[in-house]
Amino acid sequence: MIKVITYGTFDLLHYGHVRLLQRARALGDHLIVGVTADAFDKARGKINVHQSLMERIEAVRALGIADEIIVEEYEGQKIDDIRRYHIDIFTVGSDWEGTFDYLKEYCQVVYLPRTEGVSSSEIRSEEGHLRLGLAGSSSFMNKVAKEAGFVNGLEVAGLYAPDDRYLSEAVKELPYVADSYEALLEKVDAVYIKAQPEEHFEMVKKAIEAGKHVLCESPSALSEEGYQLLLKEAEECQVVFEEGLKTAYATAYSRLRLLIKTGIIGQVVSIDATCTSLNEDPNDMKGRWDPFFEWGPTAMLPVFQIMGTEYQEKHVYTHFADAQKKHDDFSRIDLIYKNSVASLKVASGVKSEGELIVSGTKGYIYVPAPWWNTDYFEVRYEDPKNNKRYFYQLDGEGIRYELVCFLQNVRKWSQQRYIEPEVSRAICREAGEFLKRKGIREI
Ligand code: CTP
Repeated sequence: MIKVITYGTFDLLHYGHVRLLQRARALGDHLIVGVTADAFDKARGKINVHQSLMERIEAVRALGIADEIIVEEYEGQKIDDIRRYHIDIFTVGSDWEGTFDYLKEYCQVVYLPRTEGVSSSEIRSEEGHLRLGLAGSSSFMNKVAKEAGFVNGLEVAGLYAPDDRYLSEAVKELPYVADSYEALLEKVDAVYIKAQPEEHFEMVKKAIEAGKHVLCESPSALSEEGYQLLLKEAEECQVVFEEGLKTAYATAYSRLRLLIKTGIIGQVVSIDATCTSLNEDPNDMKGRWDPFFEWGPTAMLPVFQIMGTEYQEKHVYTHFADAQKKHDDFSRIDLIYKNSVASLKVASGVKSEGELIVSGTKGYIYVPAPWWNTDYFEVRYEDPKNNKRYFYQLDGEGIRYELVCFLQNVRKWSQQRYIEPEVSRAICREAGEFLKRKGIREI
């Protein structure tokens, strides 16, 4: 009996897939089809797959061509599978010509001509590109524009930046550079906003009222009520409104949250989160905000997501960079909950170790600096022999996953929220209180 194996994502199953599978089956007597796991696709940069693993498996199964279906979960698995299932022929489409020649050591390798004119990527883009406008002068927009290039079906179509000093040439040369925010809104389907925090609420509101989807860097408003109002308007206008906080979309970070829920470190009693970026040249802020706004939402994210948003006491110690107290350059925020405490440090005038430590009754999670760009963390115990290490590929600092999630929510392919509204609301509350200098002790 000749055993054949082939692999693929098989997203939105199409004629090209069917033809490939039929020809693969015809090469032998028994066909095994490896369908890629979601995490494996993500790790190899295929981030915009629409259907879940189970849906894709079901679609392949329903064709009735495969004799067996397996899941491909890791790099190098093909060698293991070929040995395990005593495979005679490995086959894939000719778009992979040469890539799998290393398997010739284990079995025959056949590249079948790819069917012209159809692909999952094309089907995914069929609804047309979502035209995204960038609104704001921050150098962060350079990253957003670059990362959008990795997202199938998303096109950065325009820019509104009152001050373009920190923007890359690529961003400055976008097809449409608007003179006003309103003009930008007219040309796009959605906006990514990172202006000044004080401007966000009005900008988000205008976009929603114009029927545009919005991704706004956190904080999107400077009060709980403000955020709530935006959320309500977005619902009424049937547009997607989300806060941007790239860390929330990093696989390692979301796995860390899930692990904590399983009780792996017991009851969480303390969180320490530090985010600093020392401004050696204060004139070269590249459009960055003062640290409470630039880093505060990121540092608050794990605290509010793990401990909840209703603490009992808050103590904020702030160092200001100027006598007028216009610019903060260091803050320590202590939040006291009923059975736990959190301590956050955010700074641009002080340097510290940018780590995250979540301490529990059985052990702790340690995320090394810079934890907000996290691809690695450790679960540590009293006895180091029990320690566990976790690594998850992070591409584009999480921004590209954030954009994918936004696009999928706009297209209604999924309804996933990585930042719960109550977390955004609490961040907006903290930002507003800080702006009013409420309850701050100056140091
Ligand atoms: N395939 C094919 N003809 C096509 C599309 C895919 O023969 N028009 C083959 C691929 O070469 C591969 C298998 O089908 O052997 C599964 O491919 P997959 O990557 O899942 O499909 P694509 O349509 O290429 O997906 P994408 O556009 O996301 O890359």
